[in-house]
Amino acid sequence: MSSFLSCLLLIFIFTFTSQLSIAKSFLPVCDNNKGNYTNNSVYHTNLKTLLSTLTSNTQIKHGFYNSSFGINSDKVNAIGLCRGDIKPNDCQNCLKNSSALLTQTCQNQKEAIGWYDDEICMLRYSSRSIFGLNETRPVYVEWNINNATNEDEFNAKVKKLLDGLRKRASSGDSNLKYAVGSDKVGVNNNDTLYGLVQCTPDLSKTSCDDCLLQSIKQVPYCCNNKIGGRVLRPSCYLRYETNSLFYQTTSSQSPSPSPSSSPSSSPSSSPPPPSSSPSSSPSQSPPSPVPPLSAPPPFAQNNTSPQPQDNKGNTSRNVLPKIPLMLFLLWSMLSSF
Ligand SMILES: *[C@@H]1O[C@H](CO)[C@@H](O)[C@H](O)[C@H]1NC(C)=O
Ligand SMILES: *[C@@H]1O[C@H](CO)[C@@H](O)[C@H](O)[C@H]1NC(C)=O
Ligand SMILES: *[C@@H]1O[C@H](CO)[C@@H](O)[C@H](O)[C@H]1NC(C)=O
Ligand SMILES: *[C@@H]1O[C@H](CO)[C@@H](O)[C@H](O)[C@H]1NC(C)=O
Ligand SMILES: *[C@@H]1O[C@H](CO)[C@@H](O)[C@H](O)[C@H]1NC(C)=O
Ligand SMILES: *[C@@H]1O[C@H](CO)[C@@H](O)[C@H](O)[C@H]1NC(C)=O
Ligand SMILES: *[C@@H]1O[C@H](CO)[C@@H](O)[C@H](O)[C@H]1NC(C)=O
Ligand SMILES: *[C@@H]1O[C@H](CO)[C@@H](O)[C@H](O)[C@H]1NC(C)=O
Ligand SMILES: *[C@@H]1O[C@H](CO)[C@@H](O)[C@H](O)[C@H]1NC(C)=O
Repeated sequence: MSSFLSCLLLIFIFTFTSQLSIAKSFLPVCDNNKGNYTNNSVYHTNLKTLLSTLTSNTQIKHGFYNSSFGINSDKVNAIGLCRGDIKPNDCQNCLKNSSALLTQTCQNQKEAIGWYDDEICMLRYSSRSIFGLNETRPVYVEWNINNATNEDEFNAKVKKLLDGLRKRASSGDSNLKYAVGSDKVGVNNNDTLYGLVQCTPDLSKTSCDDCLLQSIKQVPYCCNNKIGGRVLRPSCYLRYETNSLFYQTTSSQSPSPSPSSSPSSSPSSSPPPPSSSPSSSPSQSPPSPVPPLSAPPPFAQNNTSPQPQDNKGNTSRNVLPKIPLMLFLLWSMLSSF
């Protein structure tokens, strides 16, 4: 476990120091406990082949990429997921960029995951089968340091919005499990709360619902009264913001209009989502009470401050705005039981 953590720290440092050469922010996690491969091994070759076919597949319309390559212990499985509002072309580019960054960062780990630039896409691969699994680790939690006015009402509205979105997303089909929505908050109801939740669509309805439920339960600990928050897991994603419409409202991914208002109209006779198969390496069950955050987050930043544009010569300025405003690796606390 501690080696995994040191790896994470190194990755954070890597992410910090390499921001100038990376156009967009990227959050990678290399798993040191699921095996290593060596350069130019069969696994390495399979991984490269798989990622290049995955990211050149232009048939994908709903932002979900899933495939495997190789046999036996050299088989590589990968899943790519774009946020439900991302256009197919941007999705592909996002996954392309992610696969380059992830293989550069995690140079010999067989299993790795990365989230790209405001989580517009997520890419993961492993030597074990990951399709259809409810995977809740690692988890990242992130929040805006600014407080909402009207605390009790705000927290209740965030929960209500996210719970509604959870139900809509989890009843999506095997192509898309995604929902967005908004509500009015604040003293005069003049502020707008925007929410987005999504599962990888290979999850069963129950697994999706479960994964999002766990993330929603996290919100009072990470993000109590915070005007924005995010919870990132391999199988599901949650984000909300106040007065910042962070998603595109017209989806271009779906051939039928607007999954944003009705996420699973499912006009096609698509097969039912596969039920989550038992994992050969089951994810550890979580501790029942979620520990409140006691450790300070490793870095903080004011989300509302403007991002400097043209000062490429200044590392500190150029770097910091690309780091998520606040990030806390809850995984480290949850996994040490
Ligand atoms: C894999 O490599 C990492 C460092 O890159 C190391 O910490 C870890 O122990 C290795 N795992 C195995 C199973 O060899
Ligand atoms: C594997 O290749 C990468 C990049 O090509 C290089 O940085 C790394 O040092 C190599 N690792 C080993 C163990 O040779
Ligand atoms: C995803 O990959 C698994 C394992 O290879 C396969 O069984 C499944 O049919 C694939 N699903 C899709 C939608 O491609
Ligand atoms: C991928 O990276 C290139 C070069 O850094 C960048 O121009 C492009 O916008 C990125 N694509 C996405 C979808 O972010
Ligand atoms: C938000 O509220 C908390 C608790 O009341 C307080 O400690 C913190 O300083 C506030 N943050 C800001 C940015 O005002
Ligand atoms: C809403 O009203 C409050 C109090 O009048 C004010 O502080 C806040 O800036 C307003 N928000 C917007 C988005 O106008
Ligand atoms: C999903 O995983 C979590 C924790 O790993 C577990 O609590 C939950 O029961 C799982 N849900 C399903 C449907 O397998
Ligand atoms: C964040 O930035 C906004 C706008 O620049 C400013 O009004 C606010 O005081 C800042 N908050 C903190 C905690 O720095
Ligand atoms: C870089 O930014 C720091 C603080 O953000 C500032 O003190 C410094 O003068 C800047 N340097 C240059 C060359 O712009």
